Formats: sequence, C-alpha cells, structure tokens
Amino acid sequence: MQYNANPTPTPQVLQAKQRFGIIGNAPALTAAVERAIRVAPIDLSVLVTGESGTGKEFFPQIIHAFSARKHAKYIAVNCGAIPEGTIDSELFGHEKGAFTGAVDSRKGYFEEADGGTIFLDEVAELPLTTQARLLRVLESGEFLKVGSSTVQRTSVRIVAATNVDLQAAVADGRFREDLYYRLSTVQIHIPPLRDRGADIRLLTRKFSTDFAERYRMPQISFGEDAEETMRHYRWPGNVRQLKNVVEQLALFEAGNEITTQTLEQYLPSISSSYMPAIGVDVHSYQREREMLFGMIFNLQNRLDELQSRLDGGVAVQMPKGGLIEHEAEKPLETFPTSLVVRRPETSAAPPCSDVPYSEVVDTPGTLEDNERETIRRALLRNDGRRKAAADELQISERTLYRKIKEYGLE
Ligand SMILES: Nc1ncnc2c1ncn2[C@@H]1O[C@H](COP(=O)(O)OP(=O)(O)O)[C@@H](O)[C@H]1O
Ligand SMILES: [Mg+2]
Repeated sequence: MQYNANPTPTPQVLQAKQRFGIIGNAPALTAAVERAIRVAPIDLSVLVTGESGTGKEFFPQIIHAFSARKHAKYIAVNCGAIPEGTIDSELFGHEKGAFTGAVDSRKGYFEEADGGTIFLDEVAELPLTTQARLLRVLESGEFLKVGSSTVQRTSVRIVAATNVDLQAAVADGRFREDLYYRLSTVQIHIPPLRDRGADIRLLTRKFSTDFAERYRMPQISFGEDAEETMRHYRWPGNVRQLKNVVEQLALFEAGNEITTQTLEQYLPSISSSYMPAIGVDVHSYQREREMLFGMIFNLQNRLDELQSRLDGGVAVQMPKGGLIEHEAEKPLETFPTSLVVRRPETSAAPPCSDVPYSEVVDTPGTLEDNERETIRRALLRNDGRRKAAADELQISERTLYRKIKEYGLE
C-alpha cells in the first residue's frame, strides 16, 4: 500500500497531529500520519521504520486511537530494555514454579492487552526464541505461558518499530524471515529530520517556547545564520537531538539571540555533520567516518599483534569487548575524537555539565578505552539515566547494560 503525500492534510491528519503534539508539515511526515490513520481500522500488523529520534512512538498510538480497539489496552514494550531471560515471561506470562523465583503465576502483556494493541519497540532486539512465540500468536492468536502446556487465546494488534535494517537482520540470521513478512505487511517510514526542511525551524521555535515556559526564563531567539546552520546540520539524533539542544540553549542562553557561533558549542561535531547546501554527497561523511574507523581498528590490531610477539606469545589479541564482537550493533563513536570533532574555539564544553560533547583527545588510546570513555560520558551527561544514555548512543539499553558491566562503570 502506498499513499501519496496529500498537499492539503485531511481533518483527521490535523486532528492526530494536534492530539499527539506532532509538529511539522513536511509532506513525508504528513503522508506517514495519513497512512497510520488509514491503516488503523484494518486489523493488520504495522512496522514503523525510521532513524532513532524521528518520532516513531507517535505512530502506534495514532493507530490504536483510530482503531476499533481504542477502548481496550495499549501496551508499549521496549524489546531492547528487557533482559533476555525474562522477556518471554513479560510478554506471555508464566506459571507458578516455571523457573526459580516464579513464586506466583503472572499474566503477560499478550493476556493483559487482549482486545487492544501492543507496541513492540526495537523489535529487532527480540531473541530468536521469543520471535518464534510471537509468530505463533500472530498467526493463530494462541500462546503458552512460560512453564504451561495449556494453550491460551488472545486478540492483540501488533505495531512494531525498528531503527535497524530488518532485512539485513534476516539475511544475517538474527531475525526470522517469516516473522519479518508477518510484521511488515504494512510499513510506515518516518523521514529523518534533515529531510524535513522548514519543519526544523517550526520545531525549534515550538521547543524554545515550551522550554522558556517550563523553566520560566526569557525566550531565546534565532538569528538567520543560526537557522540556516540548523537547517543544514545532519541531526544524527533527529528530533530527540534537536529537542535536547534547544533545551540546553533555553537554559544557558536564556534571552539571547542564538548565532552560529553559539550553536557550535552545543552541536556535537558540527563540522563533520554539516551538510553543505549543494553538490556534496552527504553520505560521504558517513563513509569517511567508517573508513577512519576501519583504519584505526586495523592499526590497533597490528599494535596488538606486535605487542604479543614482543611478549613472546603468538596469539593475536583483539580488543576485548571491541566492536567487532557485536557487529549486530551500531558502532559507537569511539574512535579518537580529535580526528573527527572540532573543539569549539570558545569555552569548550556545553555549560550544562562538566562533560563536553567534543573534547580533543591527544592520545588516541585503545578502541576499548575510547568506547568506555564514550559510554562514561554519555552516562554522566544523562545523570546516570541509562535509557537516555542508550538513546543518545543509539544502542539498546540491553547493550548499554552489558557494556556498563563489562567496563565496570556501575
Ligand atoms: N514531529 C514531532 N513534533 C514534536 N515532537 C517530536 C516530533 N518527533 C519527535 N518528537 C519528540 O522527539 C522525541 C523522540 O521521539 P521518539 O518517538 O521517542 O523517537 P523514536 O522512537 O523514533 O526514537 C520525543 O520527545 C518526541 O516527543
Ligand atoms: Mg523510540
């Protein structure tokens, strides 16, 4: 099903945007909202795709609200945040004694949400065994509680979301192909912020007003050059990042007119994330980064190899907990920041914390050191809130949790 962007949004689209506080008129965004409304009354699974921070979470809510299930329960589950060991029990419930610690039987979300909608966020993070259970319940409406042999029935509509390429996950054997087809009957793609043109300004102004009100501070304004800079910035963290940046500006630049110079202190790696208006392939930045990363990684391996020869050993050491082991996940920005990030000429750090976004690291350190440091800083910036830190790093909470343990960052 493919709907064209409607130049004049329907009253229902306007109503949905208003109700959920969705700002923006970019045709691709409006088309996504319209698609959600159209598919809502049809009881099909929907897959919402788009980069992290694009606003995917609005869409399952729209679908639920515009469906016949609207009076029944809506449950949002972040598949990346639930430990693998308990996810089956969370979703499908368990019987008393099903495992150590199961002192009582418990209802799962599929039983709770009978008649309603379940939003499976970060669906690519589901373990394969859970994927099998999910496929069964989608195909037949049947499921078993963990530790039970009694088949139960439920009627649940699934809306799933992902910011990873699920087809690639299927090709790698990390995601069941049959489940992929089942979930993706209808897909809704949410465009990245950098492609939304004038929406960037609308969102900036809305967030400025909101934060000025929330913090009871005089409102910030934006100079033309600053608006131009923001329009051409890559926004790797999309609307979530824009909101964060405006919140910091609202707090620390209250009453000021924001210039490009001010922005440089708040936008990480503005130089490498800036999209020139014409003629340059923006993806080349991404490629450049990956190339640099590859080079550093190879160097590191060579060093390790040399080191082990010097030590008399023969084994080639790989960086422990390095990125290669977890190729399923997005690489963190762990290479020496001096290579990619320009230190703002003025005061280095965003004044919100003592942890600067960009900081020149003179000695590159190992990949492991850099990864550890990246994670430590993200945690500090977010006052130890793991969900927020994971979002910022664009990894799942589970991965973050594992890395925290691995690096002893608790
Ligand atoms: N179009 C929009 N208008 C207003 N706020 C938005 C918009 N898109 C995203 N947001 C806000 O940005 C943040 C990230 O959105 P979220 O739905 O969590 O992103 P995702 O799930 O795609 O990572 C939330 O605070 C959300 O309210
Ligand atoms: Mg999300």
